[in-house]
Amino acid sequence: MLVLIDDARIEEIENLYDKYPYDGVTTNPSILKAAGHSPIEQLKMIRRILPPTSQLHVQVVSDQTDRMIQEAQFLMDHIGENIYIKVPVTEPGLRAIPRLVQQGIKVTATAIYTAMQAFMAAKAGASYAAPYVNRLDNMGADGVRVAKTIHDIFRVQGLKAEVLAASFKNSQQILDLCQHGIGAVTAAPDVLRALTYHDATFMAEENFTNDFYMLVNSVAGTHLHP
Ligand code: G3P
Repeated sequence: MLVLIDDARIEEIENLYDKYPYDGVTTNPSILKAAGHSPIEQLKMIRRILPPTSQLHVQVVSDQTDRMIQEAQFLMDHIGENIYIKVPVTEPGLRAIPRLVQQGIKVTATAIYTAMQAFMAAKAGASYAAPYVNRLDNMGADGVRVAKTIHDIFRVQGLKAEVLAASFKNSQQILDLCQHGIGAVTAAPDVLRALTYHDATFMAEENFTNDFYMLVNSVAGTHLHP
């Protein structure tokens, strides 16, 4: 399962990559707004600091098919390699997906709230479908179940598309999807940090280190410490 960072702030991305080799970054206009800089310059900067193998997902903002395609072409020409164009699954979006794919542009169908939206987007040629797990939960639906259903539909229908599940509140949602074989998730930095941090691990390490130094000091008669 690929794990991506749902954030556009350079310090956050660098800080996370410094600790773990993530698989890329996803953005949307709201995430870019939170970063607070020129969107295109911010995206270029993100592309520059990411390893070439890391994906960068960038969303179009128009609600008309032709303009979505123009935007996608602009983004492809100006940002760099390994870009996925995020297209919301609206009617204009669904019309744009096959045209983008025909031009060799990889598409992530986004803002997905139902399994059939994901199915239709994948049939139209999208590489990834991004269901909004936590937003679904907040609407009284079961976001994890929707994401799993989409994954199962892709496999049973022989579609090559993968789920890129998005919008998470906690690591349990990600664990459930990981166990189900989901292709990719993207989450905010605090949720990603919670995937690896545990107080008990920290304390165990501290105890091992203390035991080691106590042993060395008692054998060698020294007063070394970590
Ligand atoms: O990638 C989609 C995502 O940014 C939506 O997440 O946390 O705003 O529901 P959230």
